[in-house]
Amino acid sequence: MKEILMSNSPSKTCDDCGMSYVPELQDNVLQHKKYHDKIVNGLRTSSLKSDNVIFSQNDKRVTVISQISPRVQRKRAEEVARYARKDTPYGAEQLFDYEMEVRVFLLHKEDRIIGLLLMDKRYHVWLANWVDLDAGKEPKEISQHPPIWTVCFVWILKKHRRLHLAKVLLNEALTYLGCHLEKIGWYTPFTDSGHLFVHSCCPEAFYIAK
Ligand SMILES: CC(C)(COP(=O)(O)OP(=O)(O)OC[C@H]1O[C@@H](n2cnc3c(N)ncnc32)[C@H](O)[C@@H]1OP(=O)(O)O)[C@@H](O)C(=O)NCCC(=O)NCCS
Ligand SMILES: [Zn+2]
Repeated sequence: MKEILMSNSPSKTCDDCGMSYVPELQDNVLQHKKYHDKIVNGLRTSSLKSDNVIFSQNDKRVTVISQISPRVQRKRAEEVARYARKDTPYGAEQLFDYEMEVRVFLLHKEDRIIGLLLMDKRYHVWLANWVDLDAGKEPKEISQHPPIWTVCFVWILKKHRRLHLAKVLLNEALTYLGCHLEKIGWYTPFTDSGHLFVHSCCPEAFYIAK
């Protein structure tokens, strides 16, 4: 934001996207417009030949990306993740640059990407239940548990939340992976909305996986 520091004109911070800009600087106004649109409406995208579509209904589609997907797909998933991370203190820095198996599921609505689910395979597994967790009891690690698909990060664009879209995204991912909801892991800690979402998916017990 060099221009802002150099300008004597007052800057303004947008309540919706959080960007500070100087309304008197035309370049700055355009920059804000572009950024604002991405944050509020989602990344604009065109369908690619290499899209691996696993679900399509009305104006929504889910695509899946893995370590061996074309670079253009991995870069797109990483760009969505960069924006998603702005909403939470957590979230993976790198989506594909590590050894465990990874799948990224993107939720598209018309020509925008409005959701992301990052799942990876993890080896250290604990069985947790809400009653014990609320009482402050530590969950028990299950020794030698086979690796399980784990929800590492889930995100839906703000204006589309509470429409069960995270559930749709997760269900489609699980169908694709051939997993049952009760058998997957969840990476902790949770954000407040993450906590409520996991509670709704698994009302009694769930696996924590790291
Ligand atoms: C967590 C998140 C992905 C949920 O997405 P969503 O599409 O709004 O979730 P859904 O609509 O599928 O929610 C399903 C159920 O989860 C519960 N739930 C989810 N978010 C909730 C919230 N903010 N408040 C209360 N309950 C919530 C509800 O029981 C809901 O069902 P209901 O709407 O019929 O009551 C979304 O809030 C988000 O992107 N948060 C920011 C990123 C983040 O914190 N991710 C989690 C990292 S651990
Ligand atoms: Zn804005």
